[in-house]
Amino acid sequence: MGFTYHLPTRHNPFGDDVIEWEQSEMIYFTEEKKNMKILIATEKPFAKKAVDGMTEILAGAGYEVVRLEKYTEPEELIAAVADVDGLIIRSDKVTAEVLDAAKNLKVVVRAGAGYDNVNLAAASAKDVAVMNTPGQNSNAVAELALGMMIYMSRNKFTPGTGFELQGKTVGIHAYGNVGRLVARKAKALGMNVIAYDPFVTDRALFDNDGVEPVGSVEELYAASDYLSLHIPATEQTKKSIGYKLLMSMPKGATLVNTARKEVIDEVGLEAAMMERTDLKYITDIAPDDNSTMAALFGARFFATPKKMGAETAEANINAGLAAARQVVGYLERGENRFQVNKKPCDCK
Ligand code: 3PG
Repeated sequence: MGFTYHLPTRHNPFGDDVIEWEQSEMIYFTEEKKNMKILIATEKPFAKKAVDGMTEILAGAGYEVVRLEKYTEPEELIAAVADVDGLIIRSDKVTAEVLDAAKNLKVVVRAGAGYDNVNLAAASAKDVAVMNTPGQNSNAVAELALGMMIYMSRNKFTPGTGFELQGKTVGIHAYGNVGRLVARKAKALGMNVIAYDPFVTDRALFDNDGVEPVGSVEELYAASDYLSLHIPATEQTKKSIGYKLLMSMPKGATLVNTARKEVIDEVGLEAAMMERTDLKYITDIAPDDNSTMAALFGARFFATPKKMGAETAEANINAGLAAARQVVGYLERGENRFQVNKKPCDCK
C-alpha cells in the first residue's frame, strides 16, 4: 500500500547548513507497520505547529503517535516508552533505564544538535539507532548568542553607558553550524571575528566567512572581547573552560555560553570573576551555583531561567519535522545519515 504525502516547503537563509528535503515524497508502508508506535517525549514541548506537522508526517506514514509533554519525573518517561518503536526527544534524558524499559525501541531521534542526553553505549548495546538533526535549530541559537552579547554590553538593559559590538573582537569556540552562523551575523555587525576549531582542517571554510582562524584555544581567549562557546559536552571538554582561560581575556570581556553548562569549570569561573571585576558571564544554561553567582556578580552575570536557545517556532518546526522524517526514513528505508552510533560496518 502506498500514498503521496506532501511535505511543507521550508525557507532557510543559510541553506548550506540545513538538509533540504524534497517538496513531496512517496512514503510506502505495510499493514504491519501501522501497529508501530512513535513517542514524542518532550519535557519542554515543541510549538503546536511543530507537533501538528510531526504528527501529520508520522500518522501519515501509518504510525500511531503518542505524546508525553511537560513531564517532571524520569519514571514517567520510563513508563511511556514500554511499547514504542520510535522515540523523538529534545534534551530529555534517555538513560540506560529508559532504554531497558523500551523493549520494542528501534530508533531515537534527538530533535536538535547535542546528544549528550542519550546513553549511546546502552543504545548501541540494544541495537537502537540514535540520531540528531544537525543544523535545524542553529539559527535560533546563533541569534540568541548575538542578543546575549548586546544585552551584556548594554548593562542588562538598565540605565547607564554601555558599549557597541562594532569594532570588537568575537572569538568563536568551535566552528560548527551554530558557530558559523554567529560568525556571519557578527561580521554583519562590524565585528572582527576569530575562531578556533581543531576539527576544521579546511581553511577555506574560515576564509569564505572572512574569519581569522587561530592556532590554539589560549590564543582565542586571549584575543576575544566576546567569546561565544559552541563546544559539545564530552569527556574531553567537560570543565575545560576555567580560571586560566578566563583570566587571559581582554579587559571587559564577556563569555557567552549557549552550549552546555558542563563545559564550564564553575569554581574557576567564579574565582576569575572575583579577581577580575571587569569580566562578564552570560549563559543559556544556568550554572549549578546560579543563585550564588547572581548574588555575587549582579550586572556582570545573567542566566536564562530555562534553556531557550532553540525556543523559536522556526527552530521547533525545522528540528521537529526533520526528526519525524528521520524516524520514517529509518523505519521505512533504513536511512541512517544522521545516526551518531553507527557501527563501523553499517556506514551508508
Ligand atoms: C541542542 O542541542 O540542539 C540545543 O541545546 C537545544 O536543546 P533543546 O531542544 O533542549 O532546546
